[in-house]
Amino acid sequence: MKGIFIAVFVLWGAGMLQAQAKIVDKAQEAAIKKAELGPRTIDVSHYPKKIRYIYNNYFTQECVQCHPLSLPINSDYALPVEWEGYIKRMMYKSGSNISMGDAKKITEFMVYDSSVRKKTMMDKKLEKIADFLIYDSSVRKKALVEDKLQKEAPSQRATQEAKIKEIHDKYDP
Ligand code: HEC
Repeated sequence: MKGIFIAVFVLWGAGMLQAQAKIVDKAQEAAIKKAELGPRTIDVSHYPKKIRYIYNNYFTQECVQCHPLSLPINSDYALPVEWEGYIKRMMYKSGSNISMGDAKKITEFMVYDSSVRKKTMMDKKLEKIADFLIYDSSVRKKALVEDKLQKEAPSQRATQEAKIKEIHDKYDP
């Protein structure tokens, strides 16, 4: 698990440095090709008016300058941290003409859309973060966790302990 987190930060750092360059690794290249072939529009008819407005006046206007909209529409990004980072990367590409204000609006649109259209994916990502925090607390704050569990009702305590054990069973080597 720790390995995954370190890898994410290393990739993230590398991504920042390469923001201008067209260097992408093989896995990312494959993901981009696959996304490109997917749908190029989002059915926003059931989204709130302000979100529809961003879709029509910002996302579909500004994110189509260099590649089809199918790239962002079918990507694996879902969490706010992923969209914030990625849209910044797009903003800093030469000739993108995306202002800070527009980038913020588009980020909000992408996060809203992900939370509806990619809810399962988003929930899985959030679950991983929760798993990490629980695992970490059970190791680094063991005494504190035990103290808190002592104060819980027996059934609640059993549920919590079972969850902690489940996470250890899933990730411990
Ligand atoms: C100035 C050109 C440019 C503009 C404008 C632009 N992009 Fe991109 N985009 C790229 C390039 C080049 C790539 C190829 C991969 C890379 O360099 O990150 C890419 C790739 C992507 C990918 C796929 C990356 C992956 O790893 O799956 C997504 C998602 C994306 N863009 C979203 C957006 C969004 C959202 C906007 C509008 C805010 C946008 N792009 C505007 C140039 C641009």
